[in-house]
Amino acid sequence: AQALAGPQRLAGRHAIVTAGPTHEAIDPVRYLANRSSGKQGYAVAGALAALGCRVTLVSGPVALPTPAGCDRVDVVSARDMAAAVESALPADIAVMVAAVADWRVEAAGAKLKKKGAPPALTLVENPDILAGIAAPGPRRPRLVVGFAAETETTREHAQAKRVRKNADWIVANDVSGDVFGGDANLVHLVTGSGVEDWPPLPKAEVARRLAARIADAL
Ligand code: CTP
Ligand code: CA
Repeated sequence: AQALAGPQRLAGRHAIVTAGPTHEAIDPVRYLANRSSGKQGYAVAGALAALGCRVTLVSGPVALPTPAGCDRVDVVSARDMAAAVESALPADIAVMVAAVADWRVEAAGAKLKKKGAPPALTLVENPDILAGIAAPGPRRPRLVVGFAAETETTREHAQAKRVRKNADWIVANDVSGDVFGGDANLVHLVTGSGVEDWPPLPKAEVARRLAARIADAL
């Protein structure tokens, strides 16, 4: 089994990986969400675990099996996810792949009823989990990686996000094609030394390459 598992290059390390969408309640029966399948985040968690890393996978609502070797913490909203990430510290590595809802709703306590005018939803900005974990301080993981889905000027937007959120790397995901729920991904790795264009790859292969790069960097 050891030979099949390959070199345990991340043995003794702890990684926190976020994955999937978040759901933000509108009322007790309705929510706002996005089209994230969780596949890329789950693949990253599995690829890190395959290198011997201890992985805490903080997952929004998805329909995927837990990758081998990962401790999974299920959450629903962005605020739940932020709290779960905080509780999982300390860590050597953080990879924030989740498609966190940018806004939550000032939720109603009871189900909204279809009478009179349609309800107006008031949106409130959610905490930025990546920026929070990447902020300088004693609990900052040594390597913090964000993902950014962009539809245009992918590299430029991702470089700006890397700096704004104090992340070490951003995996910029070009979503102008049909990637949501699919198995292939076109990404660019944005680091402090520039931008690497990766060829179109299956999500599992993006994850393996990223895990190998993380092991190189530590
Ligand atoms: N992210 C996060 N918490 C949020 C929003 C985003 O941790 N509230 C993380 C994502 O998991 C991802 C990275 O930040 O790793 C970039 O997410 P993205 O949505 O591209 O960035 P935003 O700052 O929300 O910018 P945009 O206006 O393009 O959505
Ligand atoms: Ca966003």
